[in-house]
Amino acid sequence: QTVYLSDYKPFGWHIADVHLTVRLDPTATRVRSRIRFEPTPGAEHPEFFLHGEDLRLISASIDGAPVTPELTAEGLRCAVPEGAFTWEAEVEIAPAENFALEGLYMSNGMYCTQCEAEGFRKISYYPDRPDVMATFTVRIEGDERVKLSNGNPVASGEGWAEWHDPWPKPAYLFALVAGDLVNHPGSFTTASGKEVELNIWVRPGDEGKCAWGMESLIASMKWDEEVYGREYDLDIFNIVAVDDFNMGAMENKGLNIFNSSCVLASPETSTDANFERIEAIIAHEYFHNWTGNRITCRDWFQLCLKEGLTVYRDSQFTSDMRSAEVKRIGDVIDLRARQFPEDQGPLSHPVRPESFQEINNFYTATVYEKGAEVIGMLKRLVGDEAYAKALDLYFDRHDGQACTIEDWLQVFEDATGRDLAQFKRWYSQSGTPHLKVSETFEDGIYTLTFTQETPPTPGQPDKLPQVLPIAVGLLNPNGDEVVPTTVLEMTEATQSFAFEGLSAKPVPSILRGFSAPVVLDRETSADEKRFLLAHDTDAFNRWEASRDLGRECLVDMIIQGSEPDLAWIDALGEVVRDDALDPAFRAMMLALPTQAELAQLLHSRDITPDPDAIHAASEALRDAMAQRWASVLPEIADKMWVDAPFDPGAEQAGKRSLGGAILALRTRLDGGAAAQTQFDAADNMTLQLGALSCLIRAGAEDKALAAFRKQWSGDRLVMDKWFALQVAATEPANAAARAEALTKLPDFDWKNPNRFRAVFGSLAMNHAGFHRADGSGYRLLADWLIKLDEKNPQTTARMCSVFQTWKRYDAGRQALMKEQLERIAARPGLSRDVTEMVTRLLS
Ligand code: ARG
Ligand code: ZN
Repeated sequence: QTVYLSDYKPFGWHIADVHLTVRLDPTATRVRSRIRFEPTPGAEHPEFFLHGEDLRLISASIDGAPVTPELTAEGLRCAVPEGAFTWEAEVEIAPAENFALEGLYMSNGMYCTQCEAEGFRKISYYPDRPDVMATFTVRIEGDERVKLSNGNPVASGEGWAEWHDPWPKPAYLFALVAGDLVNHPGSFTTASGKEVELNIWVRPGDEGKCAWGMESLIASMKWDEEVYGREYDLDIFNIVAVDDFNMGAMENKGLNIFNSSCVLASPETSTDANFERIEAIIAHEYFHNWTGNRITCRDWFQLCLKEGLTVYRDSQFTSDMRSAEVKRIGDVIDLRARQFPEDQGPLSHPVRPESFQEINNFYTATVYEKGAEVIGMLKRLVGDEAYAKALDLYFDRHDGQACTIEDWLQVFEDATGRDLAQFKRWYSQSGTPHLKVSETFEDGIYTLTFTQETPPTPGQPDKLPQVLPIAVGLLNPNGDEVVPTTVLEMTEATQSFAFEGLSAKPVPSILRGFSAPVVLDRETSADEKRFLLAHDTDAFNRWEASRDLGRECLVDMIIQGSEPDLAWIDALGEVVRDDALDPAFRAMMLALPTQAELAQLLHSRDITPDPDAIHAASEALRDAMAQRWASVLPEIADKMWVDAPFDPGAEQAGKRSLGGAILALRTRLDGGAAAQTQFDAADNMTLQLGALSCLIRAGAEDKALAAFRKQWSGDRLVMDKWFALQVAATEPANAAARAEALTKLPDFDWKNPNRFRAVFGSLAMNHAGFHRADGSGYRLLADWLIKLDEKNPQTTARMCSVFQTWKRYDAGRQALMKEQLERIAARPGLSRDVTEMVTRLLS
C-alpha cells in the first residue's frame, strides 16, 4: 500500500510523557509502556491507532482498566475516552531473532536499537510518526554491565538503570543499548560553560580505536558553536559502536549508534579515507542534534529537511577541517556516481518524494546528496550573510517542532524578502537538468546564452524551468581573470547574460564550484579545455577541464579505437608534478572517470556502452600514462613519502593519496616490485592496502593476500577490506567467480551487512566484472539478494539499486538483468522493501 504526502493528517493527541520499562532477555524481552495521551484541542479525533509490528501483546489497559484492542498486522485500534487518559501495555519481543536490524536486536551479544524510520513499532505499541514528540523516561533491567538510553542518567542500582530525556522527541530517536561494553571517555565545555561528559562505548578489545572518533566529536561540537551558534543540550553524549548495522550511523538523542566501520579507527587498521569518513559521519550525527532532533520532520516525506541540511553542514565542516576544493571535487564525483544514475533511471524521485511504499527505500543519494546541493544553491543565491540570518530564524522559530520544507523555505523568504516559489521546484521536480550554452562576442560585449531542459522521469513527463545559480568567471586569452566569479541567476528556459567592456573574446569558466547539480552540455575544443586546465583560478573547473579531456579521450578510444591523447597526458603531467599544488588535489586530477561514469556518458550520447571495451580503454589509458611518465614517477613517489609519525590529517593524507596513485601507475611498469616493497614495509593501513590493491591488479597477490589474512583474521573491519578488495580489484573475467569463492569461506558472515556489502557491493563496483556478458555476475547477486531478503529486507532492498542502470546496456545484457529482476520479483514472501524496489526497476 502506498502512502501519499497529500494524505497527511495530524495524530489528534498530544503525549505528555512516556515511561518505558524494558526487561532484557534475548528471546523474551518484556517492554512495559505507560503513556499519557491528551486530545489536541480543536483537532479531529479519528479512531485511536497505535503502530506495532511483531509484538506479542501481554496486556493493555486504559486508566488502569484492562482493554482488549483490535490487533492488526500493523498495529492496534482501541476505543478511548474523550478526554485525557493513561495508556499502559506490556509486550514481548525476541531481539536475538531479529536479523532485520530494525527495532531492538542483538549484535555480538549486545543489545542495541535502530528506530529510524519506523523501527520503534517493533519495540512497543506507539504512534510511531515523527510529528508525535514526547519526553521519555526509560528503565532498563538486565544483568549487562552497561545500560544506556537517551538523555541523562537519573538513577541506577543492581540490575537496573534509569534514564530521562527532557527534550521532547519522536520515537524514531529512541535508543537503548546494553552489554558488557567499555568506554573511551572525554569531555567538552560548551560556550556557555557547561561541562558535557562524552563517551565512546565499544566491545572490550576495541578501546584502542576510539581516539580519533573522540577528537572528531570534540571538533564537531566546537564547530557547530562557532559556525551555527548551536550548543549541546544534555549533560552527557554517548556514542556506541556496533558491528551489525544497516546504515552508517544514527543520531538518537544523546545516544548515537554507529556502524563500527564508521567510528573505530587506528592507523594500523584504517585508511586515510576511513579517517576522513569517520570524522564526517561523527560530525553529521552530532549536527543532527539541532537539524533533526531539536527541529525534526513532520512526516517522512520531509526527510530531506533534516538530511539535506545535515549533509550540507557536514560538508562545510569537512571543508573547514581539510581542503574545501578537494572536498568539493570529491562530493561532485560522488554525486555523479550515485545520484545522477538514480535521477536518470527508473528510481528517479524528487528530493521530497510524494509517495512511497517503504520509507527505508528513500534514504537515497537524491534525498541526502541532492538535498544538500539544493541547500548549497540556496546559500549561493541569497549570500552567506542572509543564509546565516535565515538559519538563526529557523532555529528560533521552529525549535521543538516537527517541520516541513514549506517551513524551511518560509524562513528564507522572511529573512531575505525573496520569493522562493520557483526555487521550490528543486524539491518537487525529479531528474537532472541539462544545461546548454552558446556564446557571442560583439563590440566588446560577451554574451552567454543558456538553455535548460530536464528530461522526463517516472511520473513526471513535463518539466518546468528551475532556478539555477550559474557561477561564471571570464579569462582573457593570456589567461588572466578579467571577470571574477559572478553568480548568474537563471530562471527561464532560455536566458542570456551579457558582460560588457571586454577588449577581446574571453574564455568562460562556467559552473564554477559545480554551482548547480546539472549536466553541462557544452561543446568546447580540447584547446579551450587545456587552456582552462592551465589557467582557471577555480580549482573545481581546473579539475573539471582535465576530467573532460580524460572523458573525451576515453570515449574516442572506446568508440574509434583512437590512441590516448598525449597532449592531455602531458598537460596533466605538468599538474601532477607541480609541487606548488596540494598533493590531494593532484591525486584528484589523476583519477580517471570511472567505468560506470563512462557507460552513462556513452548512453547519454545514444551509444550503447560495451563494458569490456570501456574496461580495455581505461586500462590502455592508464598504461599510456604510466609509460609517458615513467621517468618521473619514482621521484614523485619519493617526495610523497612521509617520515613523520602517522597523522590522519589532510596534509599527510594528501601525500599518501598521491603516492598511492603513483604506485598504481608504477605497478604497470614493474609488475608489482615497488608495491611488494611497500606492502612489506607498511606500518599503516593506507600503505598496506594501497600496495595490496596494486598487487592484485598486477596478478601478483597470492603471498600478500595470505599474509594480510593471517595478520588481520581477528579484526572484522580489516577483514571486510580483505574481502572487498579482492572482488573490486580483480580482472573482470574473474570477479564473479572470485566473489562466489569468497562466499564459501567460513568467515563470510552474510548476515552481517558490512561483510555482505564487502563482497557484493564490490562486485557491482567492478563494472566490467558485474556486467560480464555471460550474466554470471547478475545471477550470483540475485541468488544472494533472494537469500538475504528473508533475514534483512532493508539491506537487500538497498543493494537492488545496483540494477538501476539495466536499460542502458545491450539487448543481451538487458535480458539477463531483467530475468534476474523478474526472478527476484516472483519469490513468494518477498519483503515489502524489495517488492517496491524491483517493481520500480522493472517499470
Ligand atoms: N538518520 C541516519 C543518518 O543519516 C540514517 C538512518 C537511516 N536508517 C534507516 N534504516 N533508514 O544519519
Ligand atoms: Zn543523517
